[in-house]
Amino acid sequence: MADTLTITDNRTGKTYELPIADGTIKALDLRKIKLSDDDFGLMTYDPAFMNTASCRSSITFIDGDKGILEYRGYPIEQLAEKSTYLETAFLLLYGHLPSKDELSAWQRDVTYHTILNEKMKGVLDAFRYDAHPMGKLIASVATLGTFYPEAANIFDAQCREKQIRRLIAKMITVAAFGYRHMVGMPYAYPDNDLSYPGNFLNMMYKTTEVKYTPNPVLERALDVLFILHADHEQNCSTNAMRAVGSSHVDPYSAVAAACAALYGPLHGGANEAVLEMLREIGSINNVPGFIQKVKSGEGGRLMGFGHRVYKNYDPRARIIKKVAYDVFEVTGKSPLLDIALELERIALEDDYFVKRKLYPNVDFYSGLIYEAMRFPSPMFTVLFAIGRTSGWLAQWVEMLNDPDQKIARPRQIFTGPERRDYVPIEQR
Ligand code: ACO
Repeated sequence: MADTLTITDNRTGKTYELPIADGTIKALDLRKIKLSDDDFGLMTYDPAFMNTASCRSSITFIDGDKGILEYRGYPIEQLAEKSTYLETAFLLLYGHLPSKDELSAWQRDVTYHTILNEKMKGVLDAFRYDAHPMGKLIASVATLGTFYPEAANIFDAQCREKQIRRLIAKMITVAAFGYRHMVGMPYAYPDNDLSYPGNFLNMMYKTTEVKYTPNPVLERALDVLFILHADHEQNCSTNAMRAVGSSHVDPYSAVAAACAALYGPLHGGANEAVLEMLREIGSINNVPGFIQKVKSGEGGRLMGFGHRVYKNYDPRARIIKKVAYDVFEVTGKSPLLDIALELERIALEDDYFVKRKLYPNVDFYSGLIYEAMRFPSPMFTVLFAIGRTSGWLAQWVEMLNDPDQKIARPRQIFTGPERRDYVPIEQR
């Protein structure tokens, strides 16, 4: 059996044999299929890259039918149970679990870089009091890059390593400062005795105490949420990171672009919608009626259910559900939890959802946890961005080291007017 694809062009009667590797053909091989020598050659038409592999990647594996998610081969369930976010970030970036020495050097380096240049406060001051924290995050990350002009040396591995540490470190500071600006509280500086999530909670919530002590359960819950959001292969924001990074711009500008992609409601904003939906349902007694409305198409969608890739229980949702119980032990149970549980119970038994393979996704329970931890809902996407930064950077480095990659530049099918002559305004 040959690993090739034979194509007959019925326009010309010519036959072509294209190699198949890793279940793909090279789109460029199709260019040999021409009507004449001066023909451009055949292209593929694939809006939204529904069936196009844009890269080779050894970072994250997803099997959506089986509900499997692995970072560098390690199941997400094991990482969520045993690892920390910083260790997972190292794994994503360098491909292996760190040794003890590697981990302590990595943690020390990232922690050391958490402080921001004081001028960054001026960036936040320019925003209105009610500015969305994601707008502030995008602007702050882009601005950060201007403090480190050497970051433009993206092919200098040592310089690149420094920017990676700076970006992962400063994401929590920039995110927390954005929150303090929103609520009008003085900025709280990093405390480098604390863990990465603990330090973030310190910068979010420290008030007049001399030293902030994070609650260990909430600190761990946040760490697990960062792990679960750290990478998800070629999603919209990662594609933005790679596309923008392919122009060889500095990593701060590329991460700002990735944050902008994440800001969109189709990507990073669904957990906020789940909370709104649960509040609207209001009581457990209203759940059957709501499900009925969703099924009949009158009630919108069951938010937090369904996924483009997962046609099985999203493995992250299972872990998040467990984390929610741990958090509620500390914060008290959210009254919305019972509504969520009842929705899930009914939906998993209902033919409409079963037939369409609609299961809870990562967003179904995460909003409830964030709310219990006192994060206002506009901060939810910011939390996603903090976790995803390590994945964006791992994918960026992989792209820079990949000899197959060039500046991302798709083709188009031109549908505009044919050539015509300019008409002076008085003749129009
Ligand atoms: N509630 C009710 N019906 C649904 C839902 C839902 N949440 N999701 C899909 N369906 C139905 C559709 O109406 C459609 O039914 P039909 O075949 O009778 O027309 C069928 O299931 C297939 O739906 P598609 O829209 O084709 O599925 P797609 O893969 O394009 O959409 C998406 C995936 C966008 C996630 C969708 O399931 C959805 O809108 N879910 C709710 C929003 C949400 O939770 N988004 C977060 C995703 S996770 C993340 O991005 C981090």
